[in-house]
Amino acid sequence: AAGDDVLIFEMAPRDGLQNEKTPISTEQKIALVDKLSVCGFQKIETASFVSPKWVPQMADGAEVLAGIKRREKTRYTALTPNIKGLERAIAANVDEVAIFASASESFSQKNINCSIAESLERFAPVVQAARQAGLPVRGYVSCVTDCPYEGEIAPEAVANVAADLDALGVYEVSLGDTIGKGTPETVSVMLRAVLERLPADRLAGHFHDTGGRALDNIKASLALGLRTFDSTAGGLGGCPYAPGAKGNVATEAVVDMLEGEGFATGIDRDALTEAGRFARTLRPSC
Ligand code: HMG
Ligand code: MG
Repeated sequence: AAGDDVLIFEMAPRDGLQNEKTPISTEQKIALVDKLSVCGFQKIETASFVSPKWVPQMADGAEVLAGIKRREKTRYTALTPNIKGLERAIAANVDEVAIFASASESFSQKNINCSIAESLERFAPVVQAARQAGLPVRGYVSCVTDCPYEGEIAPEAVANVAADLDALGVYEVSLGDTIGKGTPETVSVMLRAVLERLPADRLAGHFHDTGGRALDNIKASLALGLRTFDSTAGGLGGCPYAPGAKGNVATEAVVDMLEGEGFATGIDRDALTEAGRFARTLRPSC
């Protein structure tokens, strides 16, 4: 996205549903993605090809991708933690994949069962094979301001992991406030450190809204030049390995804030209201 356009990367089918303990049917997941496609998103994170033992809710990603009505201008994406995940994603005909690292050592261990350095070694062949298959790869960094296990995270640690992911060949790094503890102040300090290494147009903001500051954090990111943000219709969300990570920032609130500030999102607001309403029926606790 450039100029006054902001790209919203819709995450409800993945970040929004992955933490739900009660099984959600494949049909309902397909219905959610189809309702989101109507909104006009350029990208929808549709599935997660992680270990089904670790995240049972995401086990049916292939069936979800096989069942949706694909809108031509939308890219349907998935998380791929390793080669096995990438192979499953390619078989399911995804348009783009994502690897996910952390700026916190303890979160890396809890979330993907290895150190940050080991994760980067594991991701290198995933990025290579994905790009050979013609798939763009996105990179995430979790815990960019705070970690549920370690507390405050040094901005330099975030900058280092972001630069390492960039060196592996990701097209963009999404900076995750996994537990929604960031403030405009801590987010800005973190972003300034990352911007020393990567330009704003290679970065995205991924804010959970646990502390109620996600919109303020997006505004702080906009001021530093970021133009891509991750959010979930209905404000669903939470990472299963991040205690207290409630909802992602709601796409409805992000669109309204952005349009109010004069940015264009290209999202059909009425269709989004409908999709968000349906999303919340899938996770009434959110
Ligand atoms: P592990 O147990 O160390 O992996 O888990 P392993 O390689 O030793 O494999 C163990 C078993 O899992 C084997 O099966 C593998 O075949 C299987 P077994 O031989 O025991 O029957 N396996 C798989 N099966 C299907 N698909 C796969 C796969 N990989 C292994 N891809 C692993 C390591 C990374 C796999 C695991 O820790 C994992 O799946 N973690 C994912 C956790 C997760 O999904 N977290 C949420 C997403 S991240 C997030 O939400 C943050 C974000 O939103 C940004 C933010 O907010 O900060 C992105
Ligand atoms: Mg998240």
